[in-house]
Amino acid sequence: TVGNSTNILWHECPVGKLERQKLLSQKGCVIWITGLSGSGKSTLACALSRELHYRGHLTYILDGDNVRHGLNRDLSFNGEDRAENIRRVGEVAKLFADAGLICIASLISPYKKERDACRAMLSDSSFIEVFLNIPLEVCEARDPKGLYKLARAGKIKGFTGVDDPYESPLDCEIVIQQNDGKCPTPKAMAEQIISFLDNNG
Ligand code: PPS
Repeated sequence: TVGNSTNILWHECPVGKLERQKLLSQKGCVIWITGLSGSGKSTLACALSRELHYRGHLTYILDGDNVRHGLNRDLSFNGEDRAENIRRVGEVAKLFADAGLICIASLISPYKKERDACRAMLSDSSFIEVFLNIPLEVCEARDPKGLYKLARAGKIKGFTGVDDPYESPLDCEIVIQQNDGKCPTPKAMAEQIISFLDNNG
């Protein structure tokens, strides 16, 4: 039995991950960017994708907002649906990594349990968790979509950081934070991640 199904068997394909990786001259992996709304996850994902692309790597971004326009359009922001959102993106990211791509997932992904479950889907070295650790006050001051304002006014219920929890990663591969109250540029953040990738094969 797998999930809710019985009598299903795994079908092996003649072309495997190693062959695909060889063709692409890269290792498939998942770079999972987590952080508050307005922390700059999507901007970082785009900068990272661009930098890696220039270096000849095939990448694909799974952005929370975008995935909720299609695959996850049936999901809300209650706890159960956020968990399902993260699980589905984790499963899709795993498929992309298996395809040999560098998959960049950028979701708030506020719950440690679900992030850890995504990590457990992949071999340890191919799940790289990046905590974009920008303080709530800074994200709220930016408020690019005006959502914090609406949440403070009680017009959005269950907004992360306002009246819904964000569980900070405690032991992730990369933490990006402000220096002397200044946020690194998207390019500098992307380079921090690329250095990690270079140093870890
Ligand atoms: S989650 O928690 O991982 O399922 O969220 P995610 O799929 O990344 O979607 C986050 C974006 O949805 C918008 N939005 C909200 N965020 C947080 N809480 C609530 N209640 C909410 N409602 C809508 C918001 O624009 C998030 O975008 P980002 O890019 O993170 O700012």
